[in-house]
Amino acid sequence: PQVLFTLHNGTVMSVAAATGHSVMEAARNNGVPGIVAECGGAAMCATCHVYVDPKWLGKIAAMSDFEDELLEGTGSPRMETSRLSCQIPIDDGLDGLEVTVPPSQY
Ligand code: FES
Repeated sequence: PQVLFTLHNGTVMSVAAATGHSVMEAARNNGVPGIVAECGGAAMCATCHVYVDPKWLGKIAAMSDFEDELLEGTGSPRMETSRLSCQIPIDDGLDGLEVTVPPSQY
């Protein structure tokens, strides 16, 4: 599946993601800047924050209470569409998923 990342400068990067990987891993494996992912996907750092396009919000995995709590500590403002990209597993139904990278992860 393709995942589209809109960078802070407006550039859109379309990357081929492997099913079973997370959106964070797809970003890191393809050199998408702005996804720091300090904890490596353990849901501990909140530096993999992304804004999910509203039309995809209902299609991705639901947010855990733990993720919800961690999102209170993001470097860029939390919005209704905020998620931790390491907590979004990719499957074939998410082909074309659009996320925006926030201005900063700190
Ligand atoms: Fe650390 Fe997602 S990579 S919370």
